[in-house]
Amino acid sequence: MTARLPDTYFDQIYADRADPWDLATRWYEQRKYAITLALLPDRRYRHAFEPGCSIGTLTELLVQRCDHVTAIDIAEAALASAADRLDAAGCRGQVTLSRSALDAPWPAEPFDLVVLSEVGYYLDAELLAEVLRRECARLPGVTLVAAHWRHDVADYPLTGDEVHDIIAATPGLVSLGRYRDDDVVVEVFSADGASVAAREGVPGAR
Ligand SMILES: C[S@@+](CC[C@H](N)C(=O)[O-])C[C@H]1O[C@@H](n2cnc3c(N)ncnc32)[C@H](O)[C@@H]1O
Repeated sequence: MTARLPDTYFDQIYADRADPWDLATRWYEQRKYAITLALLPDRRYRHAFEPGCSIGTLTELLVQRCDHVTAIDIAEAALASAADRLDAAGCRGQVTLSRSALDAPWPAEPFDLVVLSEVGYYLDAELLAEVLRRECARLPGVTLVAAHWRHDVADYPLTGDEVHDIIAATPGLVSLGRYRDDDVVVEVFSADGASVAAREGVPGAR
């Protein structure tokens, strides 16, 4: 097997359907996005990086919490839909969209939030671990939120749980908290794992 699913795999999926995972319409996805955003420990972020943005459904929500979002995908068709969606939502100016891969060198911006939503399992374990080690090392203090499907998918090199185990083993990332059910795991990591109450100085929090 190659180190990740090829671009052509996703180009074909988007050729068949504009929204292959029903991201824009399915309640499962809307609920998952709400959980993902609810887990973010800070009220606001300066600049988020969202690899595998697809048609921009989560991107559109992220701009409500982030001054700017840099969103990438390997599929041109997905990026075109994302641009239309963000235009229609009036937030296109807050988002840099470009064609690139999670496993390519990340843009040089000092991101304070990384969002890995349903994208980690397209890489094999070695490549995902290498990318996270390389890129997180130059983002001190970053918050990383990840959300992944937990059921097996035959084509994917990793399961969602395996992706989260690899993220948790990345130097400099500590799990701050997570939501998990039969379908999905959503987990947030930070440099120190300090709780929100502790950061805010809520009396009684350590
Ligand atoms: C299931 S969609 C996830 C969409 C979005 N992140 C969400 O949670 O709603 C997966 C997306 O990842 C993209 N993708 C697959 N492999 C990738 C890679 N190596 N780098 C960047 N994007 C990738 C696909 O083209 C697809 O648009």
